[in-house]
Amino acid sequence: MRRLVVVGTQWGDEGKGKITDFLALHADIVVRYQGGNNAGHTVVFDGKKYSLHLLPSGILNPKIHNVMANGMVINPKAFVEEINKVSTKFNLLISDRAHVVLPYHLELDKAYEALKGSKNIGTTHKGIGPTYTDKSSRIGMRVSTFIHEERFEQSLRELIREKNAELKLLNHPLLDFDAIFNEYKVYAKVMAPYVTDTSLYLNLAIESDKKILFEGAQGVLLCLDHGTYPFVTSSSPTASSVPLNTGIAPWLVEGAIGVTKAYTTRVGSGPMPSEIHGDLATQIRTVGNEFGTTTGRPRRIGWLDTVILRHTKRVSGLSYLAVTLLDVLTGIDELKIAVNYTLDGVIIDRIPAEIEDFERCVPNYITMPGWSEDITGVKSYEDLPFNAKKYLEKIVELIGVPIGMFSVGPDRNQTIMVKDIF
Ligand code: GDP
Ligand code: IMO
Ligand code: MG
Repeated sequence: MRRLVVVGTQWGDEGKGKITDFLALHADIVVRYQGGNNAGHTVVFDGKKYSLHLLPSGILNPKIHNVMANGMVINPKAFVEEINKVSTKFNLLISDRAHVVLPYHLELDKAYEALKGSKNIGTTHKGIGPTYTDKSSRIGMRVSTFIHEERFEQSLRELIREKNAELKLLNHPLLDFDAIFNEYKVYAKVMAPYVTDTSLYLNLAIESDKKILFEGAQGVLLCLDHGTYPFVTSSSPTASSVPLNTGIAPWLVEGAIGVTKAYTTRVGSGPMPSEIHGDLATQIRTVGNEFGTTTGRPRRIGWLDTVILRHTKRVSGLSYLAVTLLDVLTGIDELKIAVNYTLDGVIIDRIPAEIEDFERCVPNYITMPGWSEDITGVKSYEDLPFNAKKYLEKIVELIGVPIGMFSVGPDRNQTIMVKDIF
């Protein structure tokens, strides 16, 4: 495949950064197509760990061309901080149609979360929801306006007047136009040289047969349309959103690799039927270092849930799976896998649209024997212990998608290709 989407199949943090970085060794271009710095993608190689939030995971490889596409929302301050941390030379293009996250978006995100009280979504407080809301309401600011100083000034002045009225109603501190304008016009100057029509660029690249990876943020269960609404993010991480979010034809996307954690995690609020508590959850959280890359929050832990994975296969499309963090399950005697749910006495194999119904779903499990051998140095599928192979085979059987690769540790070289997919 020459144009492959890296999609998170669960609630995010499946290891998309690691898989993108690994596959990028064979790519010409890496494209981030949605979300903003709510994402936290970890890449580890040569003994160093990098946390990327806005920049595509090809940024650390000087041979790769990186694109931040129109579907993204970009916080200019976070952008400047992040590029300043990249010490090597890099290639980057930013879509002139991407939207800009401004300080009032962060304030509104916090204010609305506070207003929801115990029913909050548990957002990352990065202003993502309010920025996409403004985009849909047609009062957002595109990158093309942001980098044009006069237009930015005029637009920001009007917007701050409106947003201050909203913040006042919410009893939230108000914002000062001059302070924001003076700070952000400096960021605009840093961003400007990277800005272009990235749809044009990508279509030309495809015409010259470049190999492209589309790197999703979040996971399909956080999709605004197909996720566990309202406990979702405000964009679509599905492979099917790539054409819209990048400006290419749908038939130019050749396939998707679904990055799937060998168990389940979730940060933020909302139902998670296969969630577990107690010592085993603590063990998995500790061994897997399951703390948010963006917010540092402890991640909720659960057994692998194949109902959500079949849902992801349907609504996004998955050609292969990349099963990650398999090593974290080493030493657990029995591994459970959720195969369906019981809702009000009826067995179902789907995610109900109503969140109250999803909350009442009780998972039904099968149990697989675990393994105790250290697998962190495994170099091929054949090297895996018998029970680890059986666990992977069961996943393939239950989801109906072949395993393209798997991973046994955070480092780039702890990734094993099973199929020649890219
Ligand atoms: P992303 O948001 O999908 O890119 O995932 P994150 O980077 O937020 O979270 C994945 C975490 O798991 C990071 O700390 C990675 O370094 C780590 N990781 C990725 N693959 C593996 C693996 O196979 N084994 C272990 N132990 N850690 C992994
Ligand atoms: P990566 O790309 C995990 C979650 C938040 C919250 C919900 C809405 O690293 O996998 P938002 O700030 O987007 O409005 O929050 O979505 N969330 C993520 N959870 N990984 C992410 O990104 C996430 N991005 C957002 O915790 O529940
Ligand atoms: Mg993450």
